[in-house]
Amino acid sequence: MTIQWFPGHMTKARRQIQEKLKLIDLTIELLDARIPISSSNPMIDEILKGKPRLIVLNKADLADSRTTEQWIAYFNKAGHAAISVDSSTGTRVNEIPVRAKQILHEMIARQISKGVNPRAVRGLIVGIPNVGKSTLINRLAGRHIAATGDRPGVTKGQQWIKVGTEMELLDTPGILWPKFEDPLVGYRLAMTGAIREQILNVEDVAFFAVKVLAKRYWDATSERFGVTEPPKDLEDADEIVRVMEDIGRKRGCLISGGRVDLEKVSGIILRELRSGSLGRISLESPEDLLY
Ligand code: G4P
Repeated sequence: MTIQWFPGHMTKARRQIQEKLKLIDLTIELLDARIPISSSNPMIDEILKGKPRLIVLNKADLADSRTTEQWIAYFNKAGHAAISVDSSTGTRVNEIPVRAKQILHEMIARQISKGVNPRAVRGLIVGIPNVGKSTLINRLAGRHIAATGDRPGVTKGQQWIKVGTEMELLDTPGILWPKFEDPLVGYRLAMTGAIREQILNVEDVAFFAVKVLAKRYWDATSERFGVTEPPKDLEDADEIVRVMEDIGRKRGCLISGGRVDLEKVSGIILRELRSGSLGRISLESPEDLLY
């Protein structure tokens, strides 16, 4: 679902998360492993007000595992605990309560020193729409939790979900907005399907996708689409479009006069990128930040 975020929505979303912060010990910030920066919220530090945080890179099954490791090292270096999971199959989600307890070891030690049996640690999942919050909650709960409207402003009574005996989660995640100021962020979100490409132009989104594919994953692109000539210059837009046309010809996306139907081939490129047909693809790497 795509949300149109207006200033009022952001204020409300922020207030809702801050209300929930009073109830919990730590936040689980869900990011898309393929685009950890573009799927983050620009005000996250301010919103979480120093609440302990575990960064979880979700959809790791679709991301390049080497790049995901680099991201984990990047976040660790910035002082954050981080792990990668695949919520759709449940791979490594069991590590979440383990890591949560590690992060909260001082709180737990205090309870023990007072002679109290440590209670289950309390968490809140936060993240932008489509990052996989509901999927992860259902995974951790081991059952399907009725979906609440994925919109800021939709509330219902809070309930705790037990994750084993040592962790509890609020059943409604905190919904955050993505960054808007950088147009590339919009394209990257659209490439992963997090926002509908209709909002942007499908050909523009595919253009950026082909640029990333040519830069980092040319072998996989060449193999999947049967194209053999990489762009001579990644900064030359005509060369990127030429590769799109080569793919279009291979896939029979032709219109009258033998021209390539760019809209059609763009749809194909994006579908296959998102579905994982091109292999595991990361659209951002910590190295990008150096530029
Ligand atoms: P949200 O609550 O944050 O808005 O996200 P939600 O759980 O609804 O997940 C959004 C989409 O991402 C869903 O796909 C979901 O299946 C998929 N997803 C979530 N986690 C993972 C993951 O770790 N790996 C992969 N590959 N996909 C994941 P959908 O196409 O919208 O729905 P459906 O195909 O599951 O019906």
